Amino acid sequence: MQKALLAWYKAHGRHDLPWRNTKDAYHIYLSEIMLQQTQVKTVLERFYFPFLERFPTLQSIAEAKLDDVLKMWEGLGYYTRAKNLHHTALTCQGILPCSPEELGGLKGIGKSTAHAICVFAYHQSLPILDANVKRVLCRFFGLSTKDEKILWNKAWELLDSVHPYEYNQAMMDLGSMICIPKKPLCSLCPLHVKCKGTNNPERYPLAIKKAKVPTKKRFALILKKEGKFGLIQRQERLLHGLWGFVQVDGLSTDAILLGKVCHAYSHFKVELDVIKTALHVKVDGWFLLEDLNTLALSSVDKKIVALLQKESKK
Ligand code: ADE
Repeated sequence: MQKALLAWYKAHGRHDLPWRNTKDAYHIYLSEIMLQQTQVKTVLERFYFPFLERFPTLQSIAEAKLDDVLKMWEGLGYYTRAKNLHHTALTCQGILPCSPEELGGLKGIGKSTAHAICVFAYHQSLPILDANVKRVLCRFFGLSTKDEKILWNKAWELLDSVHPYEYNQAMMDLGSMICIPKKPLCSLCPLHVKCKGTNNPERYPLAIKKAKVPTKKRFALILKKEGKFGLIQRQERLLHGLWGFVQVDGLSTDAILLGKVCHAYSHFKVELDVIKTALHVKVDGWFLLEDLNTLALSSVDKKIVALLQKESKK
């Protein structure tokens, strides 16, 4: 199986991904964090290179303000990742440790990510267990379990300990190119002959029906004073540290509707009526329209800024 997998990787793997052509542990760590919740294409086309240009070393993140790191993360979502990156850069003073235990103790680095850094940066012989690899293993061994301990055991069982780098990259590629969630391309798979999932790959792992995400209808307040806009710095977990317009659930006064913006997060959607109001609300800063784009804003707030810019040109 391992021989077949390696041959397949040699012929079909994504060898030109930039994080596969570097020995820099920080570059590899950054790619793993970005790829935790974001697709390769998005990371590659829009975020990886600009981020590295602005922060070429982990030390440069440690020396930067969190706001500047968030600004470069803007649009990538799951901003806790950027906060953890900043925290980790400070904790390890710009130099990443090289044991999976020490790496796994840093904020934002789980066991699989710690292993990925150790394998890809330091060529250690460890398995990786991200969502794609889990799917490959479940199908290969005919498992419908979600039990991490069982899955880690299987990950160790299949690991090619002589070629851990190629093996793990191959498993990731297999999971994202061949052993895909729906209609996997079993006839092209190098593990096909021994795979227990071949006859019914969509059964492994058992599909969980996704609940329909709720829609929150809210109001975004456009507060204006002496030509400047009032914004707050968000405290809630998902958007912590980002700047944005005040949002409220209901309005009791008359207000002027400037427009609507929508955004889908992983667990809910928001539909915002963007309202111009003379209400007195406490904010954290006042900014000129042309300066709003220099702040780290969430996607929704960026859409509101675009709306204001459009309005101002009318
Ligand atoms: N997702 C997480 N790590 C990856 C890698 N090294 N290559 C491609 N996709 C990934």
